[in-house]
Amino acid sequence: MVPRSASVRGVGGYLPPRMVGNDEFAARLDTSDEWIRSHLGIRSRRIAEKESTSDLAVKAGNCALESAGTGVDSLVLATTTPDHPVPASAPAVAARLGLGPVAAFDLNSACSSFVYALAVSASMIVAGLAERVLVIGADTATTLIDPADRLTSVIFGDGAGAVVLEAGDAADAGAVGPFVLGSDGGRGDLLVVPGGGSRQRKDLVPPQDGPFLRMEGRGVFDGAVAGMSATVGKVAAQAGWRPGDIDRLACHQANQRIIDAVGARLGLPPDRLLSNIEHVGNTSAASVPLLLAESSRRGRLAEGQRVVLAAFGAGLAWGAAALRWPGVRAVTEGVADG
Ligand code: COA
Repeated sequence: MVPRSASVRGVGGYLPPRMVGNDEFAARLDTSDEWIRSHLGIRSRRIAEKESTSDLAVKAGNCALESAGTGVDSLVLATTTPDHPVPASAPAVAARLGLGPVAAFDLNSACSSFVYALAVSASMIVAGLAERVLVIGADTATTLIDPADRLTSVIFGDGAGAVVLEAGDAADAGAVGPFVLGSDGGRGDLLVVPGGGSRQRKDLVPPQDGPFLRMEGRGVFDGAVAGMSATVGKVAAQAGWRPGDIDRLACHQANQRIIDAVGARLGLPPDRLLSNIEHVGNTSAASVPLLLAESSRRGRLAEGQRVVLAAFGAGLAWGAAALRWPGVRAVTEGVADG
């Protein structure tokens, strides 16, 4: 008997309408368009002014369901910025999508949330707990940013992306896996929102740091390059591929220099590295599925290609997945084509 597997059947993405170019930051902070482009590879990003994370998730979820042309029996929402501390946002998203009383929960692993959620969703299918899962990555990371911090202000953007996973055959185009997941909590201080959680009651979190993201940029940069390169190498080996067999690498869009450095370490030519950071910035949990949706719409992904998804972020936590690109038509809203 062929072992049960999970395959991608639909892909969707959504970006909110408000575009913020680098010059808007240069007008009020000690920064410049030149610094942001040369250090990060970002020209603009979208900001959700009037929408919450679940609003973005519903839009991307609808797109992925339309792309798949099927319903689902489970929903996993990968996010670091739920609408409320309690309850999880996934049940509300499921209700607004009209999915009925499906299993629905949030998963938070910061910028690696989507890859973790994909692994958990595929495992639910392989275990027989679900037939079809809507996996959404959605974040309004800009709600965590101190407007006076010139570093984190220019990096992040808001958005959502989603895929529909369905039970299938490991030999199918669309088959996802194996996965490699990992973490190092000993380096958690490199990227942290100190306030707003249960530790606030025990420790005195300095009020100026409280609800905002604090980042030690160089440590994160080095960790991301080393961590993602090693994880991509591992997952490719488990899939039976050499690094050079990877047709497309879909890295978390944290920084163009990180993406380029990971590609160089693996010996991949630049045309195999998918990228959209220039006009979306770092969209956290939305980054990888949004990149897949947009790359598919732009003709940068073709059926049967060997794709590796890789993410790295706060925790520290990281993950990678192998995927044979399916014959799907991605559906997007607010994302420029061509
Ligand atoms: N504009 C201008 N200068 C800025 C700036 C901005 N928006 N943000 C930070 N700087 C300054 C810093 O204050 C620092 O100044 P100092 O040297 O006087 O202390 C200087 O730029 C650091 O620049 P550089 O020495 O060139 O550092 P770098 O090559 O390490 O680049 C980062 C800095 C932050 C771009 C880089 O470390 C990075 O991308 N880190 C990873 C960030 C990331 O991806 N986070 C999300 C992970 S999920």
